[in-house]
Amino acid sequence: MKKALNLQTHVFIIVVLASTSSISATLIPPISKPGCADSCGGVSIPFPFGTSKECSHSEVFFLTCNSTHFNPPKLFLPGSAIEITDISLDGQLRILNFVAHDCYNLSGARISYSDPTVFLSTSLTINNTANKFTIVGCDTYGFVYGRRLDRDYQTGCTAMCYGEDDVEKGSCSGLGCCQTSIPKQVWKAVIELKSYGNYSKVFDFNNCGYAFLAEEGAFSFSPENITNLRNVEKLPMVVDWAIGNGSCEAAKMNSSSYACTSLDSDCYKPNNGYGYRCSCRSGYQGNPYLDAGCQDIDECEDPNLSKCEKRCVNTQGSFECVCPKGYHGDGRSDGQGCIRGESLLFKLVAGISLGIIVVLLSTWWIYLVIQKRRLTKMRQQFFHQNGGQMLQQQLKREGSPQTATIFSESELIKATNNFHRSMIVGQGGYGVVYKGVLPNNCLVAIKKSKEFDPNQIQQFANEFIVLSQINHRNVVRLLGCCLETQVPLLVYEFINNGTLFEHIHNKPKARRLSWDTRLRIAAEAAGVLSHLHSGVSTPIIHRDVKSANILLDHTLSAKVSDFGASRLFPMDQTQVNTLVQGTFGYLDPEYMLTSQLTEKSDVYSFGVVLVELLTGIKALCYDKPEEERCLANFFLSVMKQDSLFQILDENVERGEREEVMRVAILARNCLKVRGDERPFMREVEMELEGLRLLRTQLHRSNSSQITEFDSFEDTNTSFGFDSLKDQVVSPMGGGR
Ligand SMILES: *[C@@H]1O[C@H](CO)[C@@H](O)[C@H](O)[C@H]1NC(C)=O
Ligand SMILES: *[C@@H]1O[C@H](CO)[C@@H](O)[C@H](O)[C@H]1NC(C)=O
Repeated sequence: MKKALNLQTHVFIIVVLASTSSISATLIPPISKPGCADSCGGVSIPFPFGTSKECSHSEVFFLTCNSTHFNPPKLFLPGSAIEITDISLDGQLRILNFVAHDCYNLSGARISYSDPTVFLSTSLTINNTANKFTIVGCDTYGFVYGRRLDRDYQTGCTAMCYGEDDVEKGSCSGLGCCQTSIPKQVWKAVIELKSYGNYSKVFDFNNCGYAFLAEEGAFSFSPENITNLRNVEKLPMVVDWAIGNGSCEAAKMNSSSYACTSLDSDCYKPNNGYGYRCSCRSGYQGNPYLDAGCQDIDECEDPNLSKCEKRCVNTQGSFECVCPKGYHGDGRSDGQGCIRGESLLFKLVAGISLGIIVVLLSTWWIYLVIQKRRLTKMRQQFFHQNGGQMLQQQLKREGSPQTATIFSESELIKATNNFHRSMIVGQGGYGVVYKGVLPNNCLVAIKKSKEFDPNQIQQFANEFIVLSQINHRNVVRLLGCCLETQVPLLVYEFINNGTLFEHIHNKPKARRLSWDTRLRIAAEAAGVLSHLHSGVSTPIIHRDVKSANILLDHTLSAKVSDFGASRLFPMDQTQVNTLVQGTFGYLDPEYMLTSQLTEKSDVYSFGVVLVELLTGIKALCYDKPEEERCLANFFLSVMKQDSLFQILDENVERGEREEVMRVAILARNCLKVRGDERPFMREVEMELEGLRLLRTQLHRSNSSQITEFDSFEDTNTSFGFDSLKDQVVSPMGGGR
């Protein structure tokens, strides 16, 4: 049983909830308290009014809905016969007020009379603007009096006429009709009618006077009203209502009785009357006297409230006009509307980003300029550090016939494809040699020191100075240098046929190196050294004469190179103390012992080259027995034993025995331990040239030409500058 009841309750609640939600869904805000009647006979009853104690705010608003005597039921002010026809939340209500009359008979006696009284409370006051006090009659005057605030008041007017044609339709200005206003704050009004002559003079058309306090619009005077108003019992009157009799501020102090309970409500002081009223804030509508009575107006539903051009979005208490993407403006059809194009914000953002980009770009540009300046400064610094000025001065002073050029770094970078690996043609302890192509298609060799080493730079500068003073067809020509890099670069003519070392010790190549060619190369190299020692203003000692430092061009002409260790040798000195420098196997033993450098050291080294040419054996052979290891010593011992012809190169074996012998003796003399006993380079040159001269005469008479350039086809396979190699061992020339 109990369970069934519970179930019933649940169902009821669900029904109620469902109905409530359906009400809220139709968006009709409630005007009365939940569970209270909200109308009576077609008159709506908003809270604070109500028809029971619980449903009304206070006694003043506790109305009577009489359904027992009236059908449809009628609504009355508390404890009175004053009927209410309309209640508005704006603070007005409309009541039906009695019309007063005063009638006489022919003999001047009053036959009917009423003086109705309106007696309201301080919460209800007669509206002083909407209502007028009107008197209709042709021998009539009257008063309205009563209470306003806590004092008396009285006002009135007179309506007279002397004939029916006096009165005019629509005019209530004293002829048959008079009208007057009433003061503010009137809560009690009594009407009193009087007559001057008891209608004796107008009796034939008027024997009654009428007076009423009524809504102005409810009555428009017509001549007929002088008689027909007798049938009218009530006319509507507007009454102002308010809560209590204090101010808003005072009411807010006592929050328990404060009537503006809705969240979005305001309190205001009415124009007429006592107390305060409530209203919903702008953008809200409903009953401000109820909890949550004020509800947001969906302005977007009403085009009169929201004039949006494109899209309207409702918000709490307001709305927003929204423009689609790509438009800007306020979106109001009575305002800017939606304008196609970017918004100000977008423009601002775009402007700022553009500014940032400009700043970044200019910073980058300044950075580049500074970098470039630094680079230029660095180049100048290197130029200075590398002795550029000294070299320039030297060059000017010497007035070198083959004026050396000072190249810029960028020129050489372009020529070597930024020093690309593929352009390397030689590599060694001193550095790297690159092949380069100058803009005029001229092939050059560019020697670059490996690392920054002041000692090497010294050697580079030395080579530059020495070479710039030599002008000899059998010396590798120095074209110029570059001093802007950290390590200086030297630029030479490009010799493309490898070194003498390669040609002697590489078997296939050596086979093509005839005795005749060998003799010529020896003579050419001797000519260079002789020229160095005596031919120029200041003698020069090469200090590193060896087969690897003699390059061969495509005609197998000798080109002496690598003057890095060379010394300028002042004329008045015959010897100079230096650090021993050179290549083992070629090094003068006397110089090694004494550190005293003379031109005879070059003679010794040249002797070793001669022996190499004769025998095809390397200057130093570590894989041979002790006594054969050093070629010079081995050769001397062989000469002593008179067994020279057992160790000769096969090409040399085919040469003239006498010539070979003479060259061997010359080599032996060059290899003398005491420098004094060695011949001068000039003498060596003359001996070799003499031999050659003899040969050409011989050959001419024999008319059997020997092709000198028989290794011509073997050109491009290797390149020169093996002198840069630390070891004298060529990768191609295997030891014997
Ligand atoms: C005044 O007279 C006119 C014309 O007969 C009538 O329509 C009107 O209702 C009368 N006014 C009142 C308040 O009875
Ligand atoms: C908008 O206003 C016009 C004129 O004031 C009126 O005729 C129309 O009914 C109103 N529309 C709505 C939805 O209230």
